[in-house]
Amino acid sequence: MTLDRFSLAGKTVLITGASSGLGHHFSGVLAGAGARVVLAARRMDKLLARIDELKGAGHEAACIEMDVRSSESIRHGFAQAEEAFGMPDVVINNAGMEPGVFTYITLDEGDWDAVMATNVKGVWMVSREASRRWIEAKRGGNIVNIASILSYRQQKGVTPYAVSKAAVIQLTKQIALEGARYGIRCNALAPGYFLSAVSATLLESDAREAFLKPIPQRRTGELEDYDGALLLLASEASAHMTGDSIVIDGGHLVSSL
Ligand SMILES: NC(=O)c1ccc[n+]([C@@H]2O[C@H](COP(=O)([O-])OP(=O)(O)OC[C@H]3O[C@@H](n4cnc5c(N)ncnc54)[C@H](OP(=O)(O)O)[C@@H]3O)[C@@H](O)[C@H]2O)c1
Repeated sequence: MTLDRFSLAGKTVLITGASSGLGHHFSGVLAGAGARVVLAARRMDKLLARIDELKGAGHEAACIEMDVRSSESIRHGFAQAEEAFGMPDVVINNAGMEPGVFTYITLDEGDWDAVMATNVKGVWMVSREASRRWIEAKRGGNIVNIASILSYRQQKGVTPYAVSKAAVIQLTKQIALEGARYGIRCNALAPGYFLSAVSATLLESDAREAFLKPIPQRRTGELEDYDGALLLLASEASAHMTGDSIVIDGGHLVSSL
């Protein structure tokens, strides 16, 4: 095998949640691998600033306003993406939220609904929109979902988030199963903790040192730690992979009991 299979030259990749954190970073990684990138989120000022950076570096980039909780917004966003660069070949479902520290006892319905609407229903609706378009055009497609180590383990105070991320793994498998006959494949990338708006409350608090201690590598992730898995899953290098997930967490999931 040559490294050519990791290239995204000639491909269009749509990334949700590209206005900050991981999605913002991934837009540069994917563009660097040759992709035309379409950045989606609600904060257009952030997206416009990012595509200016990408274009300044010689990449092809566009942005669309998209709220993943709204099927209408998703439909409109895909139509705009197609106008810019044609149909996306790859969709990265990265948009996600975390409501703060709640147990299943203290959580209220509004926060539960907001997390599920964004982290689960949003992933399903974006995948459904992409898949319907791919099927209508009689072509395949590739979906990469961003899950979490909380898809697999528990932590106090993150009940809705952990439940939503476990659902993302099951949704990934369902899409893989039902999409295969159309040439659609779907895998997940499950990061451990890295510093972003989602994790700052914990990672910038006094609890940080105690939190790091059980992680075998004694550190959280840097954004670059996820690049290799992203390029594998987004490219033809993973052509025979579907319904699977890759955990990148410095060993956090294998921490000693
Ligand atoms: N940080 C961690 O330790 C960690 C660990 C494991 C997994 N993850 C996952 O990694 C992904 C990226 O998170 P991050 O840590 O990079 O956090 P972040 O910086 O807060 O980014 C979250 C992104 O999601 C977008 N978003 C949220 N709600 C949205 C909505 N309704 N419609 C469209 N976009 C929406 C935000 O954009 P707008 O506000 O502009 O819409 C933002 O771009 C998430 O799925 C998260 O669960 C994070």
